[in-house]
Amino acid sequence: MPDEIGTGAVGTIEGLLVETRRFPPPPEFAAQANINDPSVYERARQDPEGFWASIARELEWDQPWQTVMEWNPPWVKWFVGGKLNASVNCVDRHLKAGRRTKAAIIWEGEPGDERVLTYQDLYREVNRVALALRRLGIEKGDRVAIYLPMIPELPIAMLACARIGAPHSVVFGGFSADALADRINDCQAKLLITADGGYRRGRVVPLKETADRALDRCPSVEKVLVVRRIGESHQVTMQAGRDLWWHEVLAGIREQYCPPESLDSEHPLYILYTSGTTGKPKGQLHTTGGYLTGVYITSKWVFDLKPDDIYWCTADIGWVTGHSYIVYGPLANGATVVMYEGSPDWPDKDRFWDIVERRHVTILYTSPTAIRQFMRWGPEYPARHDLSSLRLLGTVGEPINPEAWMWYHEHIGRGRCPIVDTWWQTETGMILITPLPGLTTTKPGSATLPFPGIEPDILDEAGNSVPTGQGGYLVIRRPWPSISRTLWGDPDRYVKTYFSKYGPSIYVTGDGAKRDEDGYYWILGRVDDVLNVAGHRLGTMELESALVGHPVVAEAAVIGVSHEIKGQVPVAFVSLRAGYTPSDSLAEELRRHVAEVIGPIARPERVIFVADLPKTRSAKIMRRLLRDIAEGRVLGDTTTLTDPTVVEEIKRTWIAEH
Ligand code: WTA
Repeated sequence: MPDEIGTGAVGTIEGLLVETRRFPPPPEFAAQANINDPSVYERARQDPEGFWASIARELEWDQPWQTVMEWNPPWVKWFVGGKLNASVNCVDRHLKAGRRTKAAIIWEGEPGDERVLTYQDLYREVNRVALALRRLGIEKGDRVAIYLPMIPELPIAMLACARIGAPHSVVFGGFSADALADRINDCQAKLLITADGGYRRGRVVPLKETADRALDRCPSVEKVLVVRRIGESHQVTMQAGRDLWWHEVLAGIREQYCPPESLDSEHPLYILYTSGTTGKPKGQLHTTGGYLTGVYITSKWVFDLKPDDIYWCTADIGWVTGHSYIVYGPLANGATVVMYEGSPDWPDKDRFWDIVERRHVTILYTSPTAIRQFMRWGPEYPARHDLSSLRLLGTVGEPINPEAWMWYHEHIGRGRCPIVDTWWQTETGMILITPLPGLTTTKPGSATLPFPGIEPDILDEAGNSVPTGQGGYLVIRRPWPSISRTLWGDPDRYVKTYFSKYGPSIYVTGDGAKRDEDGYYWILGRVDDVLNVAGHRLGTMELESALVGHPVVAEAAVIGVSHEIKGQVPVAFVSLRAGYTPSDSLAEELRRHVAEVIGPIARPERVIFVADLPKTRSAKIMRRLLRDIAEGRVLGDTTTLTDPTVVEEIKRTWIAEH
């Protein structure tokens, strides 16, 4: 087994299996939970297809399916022959069900402005934007790129695309012009929806300027729709013939109803890019019927969504967590969703708790990085607020260390709220390993058990299940409805990345894991060259190509180093071209360069200049060695190195800088 797993995100992972604290569901919680009958696991195990079909039937279909699942490994189709529309399921359906005046989205801007959209309001907006998109020439199957801040227009735009069958591709607002351009070009988007800006820590994030720079090299984009979020104080250039103001286009729409496209269950709903081990991002393709089924039921059971809950997922919609658990999952349940635009420390470090108190949030879903940041800021910030409305807490995105889990439990949940540590990925679409809060006894640091109908395993190199307590590769043995169907335009890479190590029927997650004597899963972190920085995936190759794109850099190797708050941070080892000398200002310049090329989240924590990088005889950079040096472990075998003195040299540089 890779001895590398578990050395990244959580340094103390070995300690996890001896965690002895147990938190059974509080009896009052269990009594009222949406799912509290343990036989659900057995029912799903005996007949997974029947189980998923019974859930899919809770959605609204225009036409029933003929076949629940069609599996030609690795290719899978769900609810074949069925037709439906995601926007109808997330909006129209609730009007008929008496939720017309219920709040769908309670939105708060960073400066303190607010908007509340009822389901009726959401319906009106989605329909009008769908009509506007059609008028701009967007047809079923055309791709629409979305580069927006966390404002209501973002979910509205997504649902409007879904209504007319135009797959959207949302790009996180923190990504650079280059990253945006790469994603637009990969999916050949015809239209871009952006804004004049968004607010972050009191400053304007100039999205339109960034988009303009990207668009210089995006010939597929014909029109740009620009939402006015900032207004007067932040002028943007509008290119005649290409750029249109969102509000002006909408003012010209007289009708209120856009008939939804009746779409095949397997019609593409969206493309969302993930960083891979190579420089090129992977366009994960999610389709309609299966995806919606998966996010609908996990929202209902994992978050125990009830009609009068006020649910807040603090993720940005630019990541999959926001797609599945701010937009499609909760809205398919007719829930009330809180959405916040800005930073947790604006105007002060209690902004989240202020929102929880004022909005009466009942369910909170956030990341371990955020929790560790709150720990660092101190318990006095949540202590200032009445958090008694909370009844359930969740985390996602990275392994949570037991200390952070306990802090969340005590200082936010005040000892009363179950915690659901949910493991999943952009590829999986929905939560796959998680407690069910009315059934599962939790252990701090464990994502606990597979969701009903999910069959994970942990394998060694040879493909055998590993014994209890031993680390291995986390895989999933049978398809589930919301798995990403392919990589946009690159099916070979899909097969190679996920379905080649153990053959076409076994999905390889890229994570390492262990199982304990109760069958609980403990996620150990990535086993590939992917970093998880503050819950965001970054490919080391992406960072390395950004670095070597700088004229002074000869070679670069990037590794993830454990970090107290962010889980991992990138550290870059760089050798310079002849004629350049290392300096602090050059290191700073390179850090800034990476942030510019990829986005601020990718900025290396440190840049270490070295004369040479350690390489194997086949010229592969030995990242494991660099990681060992950076984390102060004893050096492993270096006999395959071309020049072992390089390592000593790097070690000296590293130690000198610490
Ligand atoms: C990691 C985010 C431990 C994991 C939904 C996975 C986790 C990657 C957890 C996916 C968790 C996510 N415990 N690790 N509860 N949740 N991860 O695609 O390494 O942005 O492979 O999806 O995050 O990241 P992605």
